[in-house]
Order: sequence, then structure tokens, then C-alpha cells
Amino acid sequence: MNKDSSNKLNSQSDRQTNNIGNNSLKDTCTAPRNNKNDGPSTMVTPWNVEGQVDYDRLIKEFGTQPINSEIMELFKKLTGEVHPLLKLHYFFSHRDLDFILHKIENGEKFYLYTGRGPSGMVHMGHLMPWMFTKYLQDKFGSKLLFQITDDEKFLSSPDRTSEEIKRYTYENILDIISIGFDPSNTKIIVDTIHIKHLYPIALEIAKRITFSTSKAVFGFSGSTNIGMIGFPPIQAAPCFIPSIIEGRPTPVLIPAAIDQDPYWRITRDVAERMGYYKPAQIHSKFLPSLNATGGKMSSSKPETAVFTTDEPEVIEKKVLGAYTGGQATVALQRLYGGNALGCPVFWYLRYFFDDQKESDERFVRCISGDLLCGECKNDLAEESKSFITSLKRRREKAKDSIQEYMYENEPLEF
Ligand code: TRP
Repeated sequence: MNKDSSNKLNSQSDRQTNNIGNNSLKDTCTAPRNNKNDGPSTMVTPWNVEGQVDYDRLIKEFGTQPINSEIMELFKKLTGEVHPLLKLHYFFSHRDLDFILHKIENGEKFYLYTGRGPSGMVHMGHLMPWMFTKYLQDKFGSKLLFQITDDEKFLSSPDRTSEEIKRYTYENILDIISIGFDPSNTKIIVDTIHIKHLYPIALEIAKRITFSTSKAVFGFSGSTNIGMIGFPPIQAAPCFIPSIIEGRPTPVLIPAAIDQDPYWRITRDVAERMGYYKPAQIHSKFLPSLNATGGKMSSSKPETAVFTTDEPEVIEKKVLGAYTGGQATVALQRLYGGNALGCPVFWYLRYFFDDQKESDERFVRCISGDLLCGECKNDLAEESKSFITSLKRRREKAKDSIQEYMYENEPLEF
């Protein structure tokens, strides 16, 4: 990954550090166990996350900053607590989060901005940054822009039709609303519908970014379709809408998985030249795939994830059939203990359902051979089923409030 664009550009800040703390439970099972000198085991771009992700290394390669104890202290000062997803380092990296926290300290408002590419149905991994975004909205009373990049997902795969994307857009909006964002403070932007609000800003951005920069940042090549090459300013545009709405430079914080960082690099590159603040980011890891050791859950591989529309039997089947960090036999498990850090079931429970104390106990019982995989899988199956059942109820209700959340009340033709 090219880190020039962050290094050159960032007077607001872009210090490079790589101290991510030393809690042994901090890294997900997707952190590689192979020798770090082996060369890249990872491939992380907005359209591709493959292999085992070494998150410490991404911080270095992308030139972002770790979420360290100073940041956590600032959160604590402002809210009286540290959210578990911060404590557990699920949100592990940032750009300019300290800038946002200082703005909050001074009583200034900021906007949240996040989004979804409607390439398929939504699974539990997608929900984590959204749930954290809702938490921030509730804590700080922030306005939220939620972009749906239906254009991006149409362009990025040769065989997706626009009808398919339309259906996913509708289905995904139900999931977004079911998270419970404050309707009076949340606006959903669907690119192909609300393009007139994005396009003038996207043009200003596009004019300031060369093809060679975007090639270096996104890995575009001669065989990339030209729609993709033109797309990044559309995802950058919502970063500046708050300043336009408010009539003055307005801070924006983007909670998103780390694979979206290339977009923010080019956006940060142009922000100050356009008279805006650089958008700040808080980056999450990926929820590991349920049935393999590496990579993230994937909409295109349904067996790797629990989807928000899965029936209880399907959830049960997926979870009970999940890959674990267990030994081949009970006897070996009793003897050697399991590999909790390499177990997706452990991480699902830790991030979603266990509190930290429960999870730490689960960890100790697992690695000591006291706990067998069946128990964890049962716990996860039960928790996931009841979580998805109540989400589904909210999802049904969401059908009546789509209009309320839309950026503008153009009729939606789904
Ligand atoms: N490109 C993102 C995706 O593929 C969607 C997106 C648009 C987004 N704007 C965003 C994600 C802002 C996070 C933050 O899912």
C-alpha cells in the first residue's frame, strides 16, 4: 500500500506509531502466526480482503495510529467509560480521533459518516461498526450520514446486475434502520438516488486527484473499468456535506473497517485545499470467517457468516459446524488445551456476547483443556439465534420508516 498520500498530506496529523499495547488477547485469530519476514500474507483493499490480516502491520503500512491508552483515557473523560469494542481493540486504529475528541471537549459538534456497499445481504460482521456508530451517536448526539454505494457495487463485480443491487439496497436499508439510529439525526444517502447532492462536491474532489495517485492508492490498472476509476470521489463527497449543511468547516468522524482507509487517504489529501477539515477515522478489524482460519466473513460465501435474515435452524447449523481452535479429539483437547486465539467461535463470543470477564474465563478454560468446543458452539448458537430473532422484528418494523431516514424524500422505487 502506498502511504505517500497520507504522509505528504497530513498537517492536521498523521504521526506514525506502531505501539498497539501488549494485551495478549488483543489480536484476532486473523493475525498471522507465520514469521513476519515472510512477506505479505495479507491483501487488503476496499474490494478485497484475503489471507490472514496482520493488524499491527496494517497500521504501519497505512500510516495510521493505534488506539492507545491516551485515546481511551480521553473517551473515559468524556463519557465516563470505555466501550468494550475499544477496550478489546476491535477498533484498533485511527486518524485524528484525538482531534475529534478535543473538539467534543470544547463543546463543538461533529458529524458521523459511515456506509454500506450493497453487494449482498448483511451479516453480523457488518453490524459491528454500525452498532458502534449508534453508540457514538447516542453518546454525543451527533448527526449521521449513512451512504449506500450501490454504484460502487454495480461497478466492482462483472456479474452483478442493477436489479440485484437494487434489491440488496432495500434489504440492507432495513438492517441499517434496525440498528436503531436516531431518525431525526440520521440520513441515508443512496448514491444513484441522491447523486445530485454528491456530484458537485465529487467534481471538486475529482479535479484535485490525479490518476497516478489513485492508481497507487487503489491499485487500478489498465483493465479496471472506468466507472471504478471515477467512483472514489463519490465516496469522499459525504465527508464534506456536513460543512456545506452547517455553512462552516465541520469535523467528521468515520467509523469503518480498515479496508476503507484508501478512500479517506485521498479525501484527506484534498480536504484542506478545499477549505475543510480532514475527515477523521476510527478503524475496525474484521469479524473472522466462521469456517476457516483466515479472511473475513463474506456475503458471497454464505457458510462463512451468520446473516441477519438466517432462520434459527440455519444459524444453528452454521455455528455448530464452525471451525474452532479445538484439538482433533477430546483426549488431546484435555491434554493440550485449545487455541482460543485461533478460534472464530471464541472471537464471536468475545466481541458480541460475552462480557470481558466471562470471555477471559472462557479463554483460560479453553487453553487449559477444561472447556470443550461443543460448549462454546452451543453458547454461540443460542446467543446468535436470540440476537437475530429480535433484530428481525426490528427489521420488519423498519419497512414503515424508510422514508423518514432518507436524505431527501424522493420516491423510492424498490
Ligand atoms: N465502500 C463501502 C463498502 O463497500 C461503503 C461505504 C461508503 C462506506 N461510504 C462509507 C463504508 C463510509 C464506511 C464508511 O462497504
